[in-house]
Amino acid sequence: SGLNINSISRVERVVPFLSRPTLPALLLPSGLHLFSSNAICRSVHHSPAWSFMNLILIHFCFVLFVQPALLQALHMAVLQGKGSEVSKVLQGPLNYLDQSLSKGNTPYLTGVQYLHLFLVATALAFFQYPFSCHQRGDRSYEGFRFEPRSVFSSLPQEGKRNLLVTSALPYVNNVPHLGNIIGCVLSADVFSRYGRLRGWNMLFVCGTDEYGTATENKAREEGLTPQQICDKYHAIHSSIYKWFQIDFDFFGRTTTEKQTEIAQNIFWRLHKHDFLVEDTVEQLRCESCQRFLADRFVEGTCPHCSYPEARGDQCDKCGRLINAVELREPQCKVCRQTPVIRSSKHLFLDLPKLEAQLEQWLDKSTSTGDWTANAKQITRSWLRDGLKPRCITRDLKWGTPVPHPDFKEKVFYVWFDAPIGYLSITANYTDKWEKWWKNPHQVELYNFMAKDNVPFHSVVFPCSLLGAQDNYTLVNHLVATEYLNYEDTKFSKSRGVGVFGDMAKDTGIPSDVWRFYLLYVRPEGQDSAFSWADMATKNNSELLNNLGNFINRAGMFVTKFFEGCVPAIELQQEDKKLLALVGWELQQYIQLMDKVKIRDALKHILNISRHGNQYIQVNEPWKKIKGGDTERQRAGTVTGLSVNIACLLSVMLFPYMPTVSQTIRDQLNAPQSCINAMLQGTGTFVCALSAGHRVGTVSPLFQKLEVDQIEALKKKFGGQQVFDTAASTQPAAVPAPLAEVAMVNGVDPEKAKQLTLAVTEQGEKVRALKAQKAEKAVITAEVTKLLDLKKQLALAEGKSPEPAPQKGKKK
Ligand code: MF3
Ligand code: ZN
Repeated sequence: SGLNINSISRVERVVPFLSRPTLPALLLPSGLHLFSSNAICRSVHHSPAWSFMNLILIHFCFVLFVQPALLQALHMAVLQGKGSEVSKVLQGPLNYLDQSLSKGNTPYLTGVQYLHLFLVATALAFFQYPFSCHQRGDRSYEGFRFEPRSVFSSLPQEGKRNLLVTSALPYVNNVPHLGNIIGCVLSADVFSRYGRLRGWNMLFVCGTDEYGTATENKAREEGLTPQQICDKYHAIHSSIYKWFQIDFDFFGRTTTEKQTEIAQNIFWRLHKHDFLVEDTVEQLRCESCQRFLADRFVEGTCPHCSYPEARGDQCDKCGRLINAVELREPQCKVCRQTPVIRSSKHLFLDLPKLEAQLEQWLDKSTSTGDWTANAKQITRSWLRDGLKPRCITRDLKWGTPVPHPDFKEKVFYVWFDAPIGYLSITANYTDKWEKWWKNPHQVELYNFMAKDNVPFHSVVFPCSLLGAQDNYTLVNHLVATEYLNYEDTKFSKSRGVGVFGDMAKDTGIPSDVWRFYLLYVRPEGQDSAFSWADMATKNNSELLNNLGNFINRAGMFVTKFFEGCVPAIELQQEDKKLLALVGWELQQYIQLMDKVKIRDALKHILNISRHGNQYIQVNEPWKKIKGGDTERQRAGTVTGLSVNIACLLSVMLFPYMPTVSQTIRDQLNAPQSCINAMLQGTGTFVCALSAGHRVGTVSPLFQKLEVDQIEALKKKFGGQQVFDTAASTQPAAVPAPLAEVAMVNGVDPEKAKQLTLAVTEQGEKVRALKAQKAEKAVITAEVTKLLDLKKQLALAEGKSPEPAPQKGKKK
């Protein structure tokens, strides 16, 4: 019946021999690998000399880690008065040891006294990370390790795939919203987790992007210093990502000494190789604010069409690009004073000179690596128009200082500086950071981001690195998402529309369910939308009725019909058919995940449980268990196969829903080793639970989301409350109802305020699109929206919607 003979025989070969030899002693009960990324262990763990090596390692670990950790603990307790933190630090390893020994399902953990010592040693080393927070100046720390998984910093290994994964560094001056989260950190997390399952050697780094005008402005707004803003928001970002279970190897920040060191080094190398050019730039400076005005902080009359509210870089009325100094009657948007023109010398990265090299390398990277279609398209359009020199210096204070004596007062432009953050953050993680970043032959670099970040990662930053001529690792795979909308509008911080990272946990909906839904609607290939109603539907239909139901039934059959012991499997045609289907879905999942098609791959997990539910439905083990021997044996096979598929599902789910994945394995009492066995090698389905295996306590995995519950949440987060005006990373449009109200009403200061914000955000969007060189039609459409918003704003302010050509500006 349409069966693929090849896949059946492959499955048959696999199933009777159950699991592969694995090494539980190397895995923590929590699923973390003590030594999995460690070369020594990788090479010895199948060898007969393993136990001997173990002893050597114990001593090795003790000398290396326990002693320093205890010394540091003492230092902390005595010199820094952090006694409570020390006990916390020591409590972890001790609890862990306790748990390991009481579980008793991992044979290597019992009876081997040396092993206890080994565990304490490694666990202590594990927990040393709070100690490694450097004290430097007024800075508290450079970043921290999220759930460190290895005693040693991960480094590239010979004979392995070494994948360096970055997520775009989120701006520190904002609380990230769901669109930001799915766009970079969550996508990168899923791929990193998957890579670890595949047995690839992964390093996943990220951190907050802290320098620049935006931070200075936020500091002014909140009455704090830029440093205080960074510390405050870095902590907010960290805790949000922790809640979302983003499993970074290291989450750092860009305002560190390493950043200065590496950015200045790259700068000097560019200088030495003659890739920097000097030019004089005329800029507007506001004497009352005592600063140079970035384009978006100036407004004035358009020199072309006399539209009175043109911005520093473009006129929204006639669409022409403007040089800020050409504006008539310019105004500082902060204090409304008239700025003066000042000229000053700046440095430019000579992109035209690097263009040929870049193109040659792009040809190779885009043809051999996995670049999303949007990333290729945006990059192509940049090159098509020809590259121009880009200014890399700014007249600001909050930034990495330019070391050149002629530019003493200047800092680097954030978009020159920030991507160097990937390197410096890695350097704060390991001194051997160059093994990752100056090693293009051994390392593959994956950059995850939303599409507005593409040109900086595909053109500008690679040019910096190429020009520095230091054998840098350049991006091999550029994975860019489209935009996630909120319901039928855009996420907007300024209008308080949408769900922000810190709110998600207040909904009471588990982190795993958030992850699931965001990944289910991941804007992969096209824009998509977050919708409360849809989240409830997907939770109830896919998680509860499909996935959860299958896993729960499989486990319950074992518990109820077979006293908790997995029954023996004797395959019949029906079962082979299921195995063929499951095998196919698994192959699809692997193929898609290998290509970072995260959203598509998820659908194949759900297909497996759908097949499983059908299989159970057709075979009715609850009836057969009451029949004669043959019938009971059938019930056994159906149950045994189902529960093993449930185990497979737990592994496939791991990148998406790590907690649920672990809960399933706990309920099934599945060996931790199965998580590695399934997806390595050829990626064939291996039954991990053999006949006689005793499962744990099985219980439902998901909860129904009720309509009224969802309605209440939607109201709560629907967002008509106006927050402070921080530019959100995702451009926003005004929601329709708001627009209409403003149209019919007369003067309405509240609406005017909201519309002002909407205009600002729409303006940002237009500018971003132009910077990306998006298609003309797209830009025109957005400009039309912007003009429309401005008209509404004028109405709400009681002004004439048509700009009066000669109208002077209010002071
Ligand atoms: N902070 C930027 C954003 O959120 C991304 C910077 S990515 C980096 O859009 F690589 F430049 F750091
Ligand atoms: Zn104009």
